[in-house]
Amino acid sequence: MAGEGGDGEERPEQQMTTISCHFFGEPEKPPAFSISIIENMKEDYGLFVWPCSIILAEYVWQQRLRFSGVSVVELGAGTCLPGLVAAKLGSDVTLTDDANRLEVLDNMRRVCELNKLKCKVILTIILAAINFFTLFIIKQDNGISFIIMA
Ligand SMILES: C[S@@+](CC[C@H](N)C(=O)[O-])C[C@H]1O[C@@H](n2cnc3c(N)ncnc32)[C@H](O)[C@@H]1O
Repeated sequence: MAGEGGDGEERPEQQMTTISCHFFGEPEKPPAFSISIIENMKEDYGLFVWPCSIILAEYVWQQRLRFSGVSVVELGAGTCLPGLVAAKLGSDVTLTDDANRLEVLDNMRRVCELNKLKCKVILTIILAAINFFTLFIIKQDNGISFIIMA
């Protein structure tokens, strides 16, 4: 989706903005659905879909029976594809990313709106020292079923 400036010319920062469409399940066969993601290839990471995110999203889809009616937190969500798949499957989803990256936060809100999904969007700093044990404690203490990250 290339945008145009008010003078009819494309602004450089808009030229690389696109919407990618990701399909889950067989077309026309419920519960198949698609998720649209706004990506900006010129911006820093977090504004385009990383391949690992596509794999995690496919995992969530494959495990869809486990993602209905549960609480899910996506860390470093960026363009949020796995979290949005979980939300589509009926999870209560919280999307998080770097507190210093407001453009990523804006994009996270936009993709939620685009897909008509209500997710909580919050900013966090993941500490370099965080480990799986800490994540396990956070998960247990907050009644979170899954913490996902790509
Ligand atoms: C490699 S990108 C992956 C984005 C997305 N998960 C994907 O797979 O497409 C890493 C993401 O983690 C976020 N991030 C990096 N350092 C972070 C930190 N210390 N705290 C929270 N988020 C962080 C970045 O802003 C970025 O969105």
